[in-house]
Amino acid sequence: MEEILEARLAHFELDDDRLNKVLTMVYNSPLRITETMVLERIRDRYRWPKSYSTGCPSIERISREDGYKEQDFFSVFDDHLLYDQFLELYKEGHTFVLSGVQYLFNDIAVITDRLNKEFDIEVNSNMYISRGSKVISYPYHQHDYAVIIKNIQGKSKWLIEDEDYTLENQNVFFIDKFKWHCVKEIYGFKLSITFNLN
Ligand SMILES: [Fe+2]
Repeated sequence: MEEILEARLAHFELDDDRLNKVLTMVYNSPLRITETMVLERIRDRYRWPKSYSTGCPSIERISREDGYKEQDFFSVFDDHLLYDQFLELYKEGHTFVLSGVQYLFNDIAVITDRLNKEFDIEVNSNMYISRGSKVISYPYHQHDYAVIIKNIQGKSKWLIEDEDYTLENQNVFFIDKFKWHCVKEIYGFKLSITFNLN
């Protein structure tokens, strides 16, 4: 269990036992998702409006080192994703954030259903996909909600509260609210997912 960063999930007033139980469940739930599978889902362009009805963007490209995001691969005619434009940017090595993906594949939905039941909320989930040759992620930051991060494929180096950690295989990080974190380095293709506990 050393892959899991231990911390107290104060927001939900979880004791360590409950947190460990949740993280163990996520750790033991395999996400059998490949790059091809994700690209096939993205190709289903009507799944990806520029924004969902909540106002949240469906897919964004992290275009600058300061974490600025763009949606320069959407149709101005029907406000849905343009797959060819997306794919060109993706192949250049840009990093994309897919939001609202908590039910995108069954393996994810299994985790989501369990988290929903555990916390009595609807967990929101984001997926990060990149071949890693452009801006890789956000700068060092913190936020007022905790996140569970699970790797799907690839390997990355993270800075969490001034310490380096490696995320690989199907490992899990828990980052409590207000804990500083960022991805420092990724080594080729990386696919990971976050479950936001807010
Ligand atoms: Fe974050």
